Amino acid sequence: MDFFKYMNDKLYCENVSINDLVEQYGTPLYVYSKNAIINKFRKYDEAFKSVSHTICYALKANSNLHLLKLLANLGSGADIVSGGELFLAMKAGIKPEKIVYASVGKTDKEIWAAMDSGIKAFNIESWQELEVINEIAIGMHRRAPIAIRLNPDIDIHGHPYISTGKSINKFGINIEQAIDVFLKAARMKGVRIDGIHCHIGSQIVNLDYFAAAAEKMAAFVQELEKHGIQVNHIDIGGGLGASYENFLITEGQETSRTPEPEQLAERVLGILSPLDKEIFFEPGRSIIGEAGALISEVLFRKESNGKKYVIVDAGMNDLIRPSLYNAYHQIVPSEKKKSSNEVVDIVGPICETGDFLAKDRELPHLDRGDFIAVMTAGAYGYSLSSNYNSRPRAAEVWIDDDRHQLIRARERYEDFLS
Ligand SMILES: Cc1ncc(COP(=O)(O)O)c(C=O)c1O
Repeated sequence: MDFFKYMNDKLYCENVSINDLVEQYGTPLYVYSKNAIINKFRKYDEAFKSVSHTICYALKANSNLHLLKLLANLGSGADIVSGGELFLAMKAGIKPEKIVYASVGKTDKEIWAAMDSGIKAFNIESWQELEVINEIAIGMHRRAPIAIRLNPDIDIHGHPYISTGKSINKFGINIEQAIDVFLKAARMKGVRIDGIHCHIGSQIVNLDYFAAAAEKMAAFVQELEKHGIQVNHIDIGGGLGASYENFLITEGQETSRTPEPEQLAERVLGILSPLDKEIFFEPGRSIIGEAGALISEVLFRKESNGKKYVIVDAGMNDLIRPSLYNAYHQIVPSEKKKSSNEVVDIVGPICETGDFLAKDRELPHLDRGDFIAVMTAGAYGYSLSSNYNSRPRAAEVWIDDDRHQLIRARERYEDFLS
């Protein structure tokens, strides 16, 4: 089902037109389809139903409280990486026994809070972290549940900033050292080994990489068993990609959709289910990415040295992915245009040359007052936004059929004073 589509030449999210939304809420505006989120979560749950499993939504992709409450009601767990995310997950009603906590840099305060909350597992990323968690837990007369994050040395051939599973990356413990770490953990009084974890990167569209990680984890679990160590769960991390190119199918275009949760589950469960462990998966981008769009108004046009610029009111502070990762997002007008296409740069108002949403993009002629939708902006959009250039963060709304609801108010200048 298409949750964003044109009807009578106007762009809709579910059954609400984008033009109506901007009239009420202004721009820049993040718009999410509630049913796209529900649909995607259910696809994951269904895909893994043949095994005991927990889908732990990765809050870093988008941690809006309304979204988290929705996912909690659907039975989601949480992958968290900070005390702030723990706070939000708990506020949203996500069950602590479904919360897993990664991060190479957990503070003592964050560790105490996670212990107090009764989370499922700390995903341990270093020797020293293991020792500190052990000491803290002993001090609390408790045992901390842990999973050790393996670094399987798998190159996903993605952007270097979102590849996490190579031995040169800062994440996890190299597989060669991991047996020793497990053996040491097994003798500690303040920890209880519950599982193994790995996360090889983000925006992965080739399922072979997940299969390779699953193979390494399965072999590792067998190796652990030879040493007398049993784990209860295997956490394969997140990372399934979202569709960024031609996500919205307009006439004459081809779209290349990323693999579905069902295909992912089929590949990894073929390898992992014979081990008979609980399976954890931590999707972020693939749950919320395609469900969101960033809407922006065209402010000006400008031509310089033969190059055409369309200047819009959303900048890199609202959506940093193009500037940070050179990421591509499909951009479409909120109303179809009859004009022929031209090649333009879509740029924001920020005082940085790196402030752009699209470069050399073929688009219909856009004029002052037109609105554009930057598609597949639901993940790592709002959550990576900032107040750079003292710009208030955008508002967020979500749509349920023909109803819309503000799920985060636009920031005001007064908020800068707090
Ligand atoms: C440990 C961990 N799990 C899950 C995720 C979510 O990844 P994605 O949004 O690509 O599914 C990340 C993202 O960086 C991560 O670091």
